Amino acid sequence: MRIQVPFFRADLNAQEVEEVVATLRSGWLTSGPKVRRFEQEFAATVGAPYAVAVNSCTAALHLAVEALGLKPGQAVLVPTMTFATTAEVVRYMGAIPVLVDCEPLTTNMDLDDAARKLAQLKSEPLASTLTEDIQLVGIIPVHVGGMMMNIDAVQSFSAADGLWAIEDAAHAFPAAWRRSPDEPWQQCGEGTAAVTCFSFYANKTITTGEGGMAVTHDAEVAERMRLMSLHGLSHDAWERYSGGGWDYRIIAPGYKYNLTDIAAGIGIHQLARAEQMRWQREDIARRYLEALGDVEELELPAKDENRIHSWHLFPIRLRLERLLINRNVFIEKLKQSDVGCSVHWRPLHLHPYYQETFGWRPEDFPVATALWERLVSLPIFPGMRDNELAHVVHTVRRLCAQYAR
Ligand SMILES: Cc1ncc(COP(=O)(O)O)c(C=O)c1O
Repeated sequence: MRIQVPFFRADLNAQEVEEVVATLRSGWLTSGPKVRRFEQEFAATVGAPYAVAVNSCTAALHLAVEALGLKPGQAVLVPTMTFATTAEVVRYMGAIPVLVDCEPLTTNMDLDDAARKLAQLKSEPLASTLTEDIQLVGIIPVHVGGMMMNIDAVQSFSAADGLWAIEDAAHAFPAAWRRSPDEPWQQCGEGTAAVTCFSFYANKTITTGEGGMAVTHDAEVAERMRLMSLHGLSHDAWERYSGGGWDYRIIAPGYKYNLTDIAAGIGIHQLARAEQMRWQREDIARRYLEALGDVEELELPAKDENRIHSWHLFPIRLRLERLLINRNVFIEKLKQSDVGCSVHWRPLHLHPYYQETFGWRPEDFPVATALWERLVSLPIFPGMRDNELAHVVHTVRRLCAQYAR
């Protein structure tokens, strides 16, 4: 029998389906009691006092930069190795994303390169549109694939230059880091940044279809994000419904970013199973590492005893010097064998908008420029069957053997 392995298959159980039906029957479809409960339970899970549920991680990051007062013309350090969101929210505010190269091992932001870009910024404009008197105010680290950055390093880097840090933790739930085996774990969101933003998009580690959450330890920042998430109104719909009154005031021109109770109902159950689903992904990662560890044409993702990895992604790197085919052909061959895969990511500096607007050149980011052409993300999701995993392993091994140089 032919086995087809999708890149991702959402894991939704009967309770989640029943919760959606119950929500529809309740008559309360938009933000209501289930959103509040989801916020409270998520905040308690990551160890943050405040959580604001929204309809995407993009919305969460936009609200975060707005609440921290990002102004037009100011600059923010953003990794080039990330999804569109991380830089576009900076552009939403009319501010400038200063792109930073990645570390070769994790593909997370390279803080040494951030320091270099900062020094360059102070001495000469980085690109035609950037001026010397640009004011750098923040940094947005991304925990790529769910492998957290060293939070001490991020915090001391930002403290030295008076920057705020907002985490793009779209991949990093549940995830944690510690300084050493003798130190306690700190969860992503447990005071790891001024604001930490998570994604519940369809293929993320927990899902609400579309959804996101911003968590913070700062009551004022939380209040501003909540206000701006629903038109800048003084009371949100739920407070009006539950006795807050009909006479709202528009405090600021906000956005329409609220999560629905239909989505939150799914989220409550996904949250309760988040750790169990993480174990399942960790087990798949362990089996890939064992089964592909001896393939000389590949490099496998790094493990670290001081990280609880969410294993949202399992990106392998092709050793192109040992192969007769390039990455794109490798992906084509995987597809022909019914193995779904993806690439995380074409770096931002290789996209037309960022090249044309800021004049970034491939040589400004040597690590990301070389690395991205070697990346292939393999399927990893809870509920992946043994024969599916075996098919991926067999196909990858076969291609490496067939096209070895
Ligand atoms: C690193 C990163 N940040 C942000 C996002 C955006 O998440 P959302 O679709 O919830 O807005 C994604 C989505 O894939 C992502 O990979």
